[in-house]
Amino acid sequence: MIEYCMKFLELLNKTNIIAAHRGARSIAPENTLIALKKSLGRCDFIEIDVQLSRDGAVIVMHDDTLERTTNITEIERFKSRKPYRVCDFTLDELRTLDYGSWFYKDKKHKEPLLTLREALEFIKENNIFLNIEIKDMSGILSDDAAVEAVVKEIKESDASELVLISSFRHEYLKLAKEKLPDVPTAALVENNHPPKLIEYLRELGVNGYNLNSELVDKESVEMLREAGFFVGVYTVNDVKRAKKLFGMGVNCIFSDTLEKKEVGAL
Ligand code: G3P
Ligand code: MG
Repeated sequence: MIEYCMKFLELLNKTNIIAAHRGARSIAPENTLIALKKSLGRCDFIEIDVQLSRDGAVIVMHDDTLERTTNITEIERFKSRKPYRVCDFTLDELRTLDYGSWFYKDKKHKEPLLTLREALEFIKENNIFLNIEIKDMSGILSDDAAVEAVVKEIKESDASELVLISSFRHEYLKLAKEKLPDVPTAALVENNHPPKLIEYLRELGVNGYNLNSELVDKESVEMLREAGFFVGVYTVNDVKRAKKLFGMGVNCIFSDTLEKKEVGAL
């Protein structure tokens, strides 16, 4: 297990790292406090997704609508608010929803909303690292406003040594680096490598590159590692695949199911 007296920046030099994708999302409702709690002892860091409510609160949620992971469709007074975009709801409204019963078969367990502030309090209390993925909110608010809201939470929580900021919207990462130079950043990609990849990442000033498992090849991993970048791969739920990726030199996998002890040392 990783020692938590170090900073996230130092964790980026390690290999065989397991990140709990959206918390321990195979055993608890994703991106909730219970998912973070269940991640403890199973991973080296926790990954969450964040976005802003209508009134600017930074909340933890993956989808840009509330339908899949809350009970919003059952609430009469919200029926006129389709398509239930997160950014159309205030923090107070979001706090009235249940984030747990969609996940549990008995439909009885309720879970409250998790805010970034609460997630940061949790990681500080429990000495665990956190990857904050900022969802792309470019159609809704300025890049600067989106990043500033997240930066404010990190600063006010005094948690900058414990976090990594990532995003598919790479403009956010440049801004985050300007505002919090000591916090590591990672560019997320899904379908294609940006042209002139190494130059591109250097220009962004990121520390890492987190890519879709289908996009990984040995040559790219070697090139990235030689250039000094941390390489993370999502989403990997198969032990054989995890071992193969670590064998290629990948530093970290994001997993819904795998635990450190299952993947083991190479
Ligand atoms: O950060 C890795 C992974 O979480 C990116 O994909 O869609 O699950 O946020 P997504
Ligand atoms: Mg994510």
